[in-house]
Amino acid sequence: MSGGAASAAYHEELRRFVEEATQSFQAAASTDELEEARARHIGDTRGRLRTFSVALGRLPHELKPAAGAAFKLAKEELASAYDRCRRQLAVAAPLAPVLDRTMPARESWRGSLHPVSLVVDEICDIFRALGFTIALGPEVETAWYNFGALNFPADHPAMELHDTLYLEGGGLLRTHTSPVQVRTLQQYPPPIRILAPGNVYRRDFFDSTHSPVFAQLEGLAIDEGISFADLKATLNRFAHAFYGKSRRTRFGPSYFPFTEPSAQMDVEVDLGDGKGLRWVEIMGCGLVHPAVLEAAGVDGEQYTGWAFGMGPGRIAQSRYGISDCRLLFESDVRFLEQFAT
Ligand code: PHE
Repeated sequence: MSGGAASAAYHEELRRFVEEATQSFQAAASTDELEEARARHIGDTRGRLRTFSVALGRLPHELKPAAGAAFKLAKEELASAYDRCRRQLAVAAPLAPVLDRTMPARESWRGSLHPVSLVVDEICDIFRALGFTIALGPEVETAWYNFGALNFPADHPAMELHDTLYLEGGGLLRTHTSPVQVRTLQQYPPPIRILAPGNVYRRDFFDSTHSPVFAQLEGLAIDEGISFADLKATLNRFAHAFYGKSRRTRFGPSYFPFTEPSAQMDVEVDLGDGKGLRWVEIMGCGLVHPAVLEAAGVDGEQYTGWAFGMGPGRIAQSRYGISDCRLLFESDVRFLEQFAT
């Protein structure tokens, strides 16, 4: 082969090699594939580029400068083609998902019953063991069930404490759960022992001790020969079951239009505020007024009974040492999760 032909073949092969190598860099779909192509073409000892540097040494002396310059150019072209492809792959490559097994597990969310629900459930359990069943009534009542049948004389000052929202069509938001007494007496013949939990509404400020909506829990027992002694015995039994056997209780006179005589029941409790034991009123109660029995169609000569009404919100406050009743309404998870068991 003449020197010129050898030189032409060298340049020609070198050009084709650069083309092929560049194409294979561009075809690489991953950095692994690109590295493999780089090793195959320009790898230090085994790459094809090395065969051109060997061939260069065998060319006639006078052809070497031109071929050497071409070789150097080819080497630079390949290096920059490789760099370009590597940068493109780095940009396109999605970040590999990171699985970090040392990361702490996400804390699981544990739901809990609201403190008022806890208290209502507990009270219902205590009375259920004494033969009481649960009765429910509507929150939208008529004036007759809320007041009239409960012996509120028209315009009596007792109604001042029971101002509420009056709805179109004559309904009102019930101000207490006592209407359930009347509804139950109308529906079932005595003997009757019911508990009626539910929400009630009053025109009140929303402050640390008042809320315009709150829970109540009504109790009613009607049978032949029921006396005030039954009321005291049953309610004491409840207080001891709920607050503890050694708790003292006391009854003081009170007034409700639908009970006669009427009383309030106090329990000596420690509210956990460092002030020790003190008397806390937990409910109103009394013997059911004969006028209520009559309004509900029950023979007051044959049957007597007693009733009570308590506020589970207040009771929850005394049980858990909650000083502000608004906490019961704010749905603050930091407060509520303390009741998760
Ligand atoms: N309904 C009364 C109130 O809301 C409470 C009560 C119920 C009192 C039953 C006596 C008997 O204040």
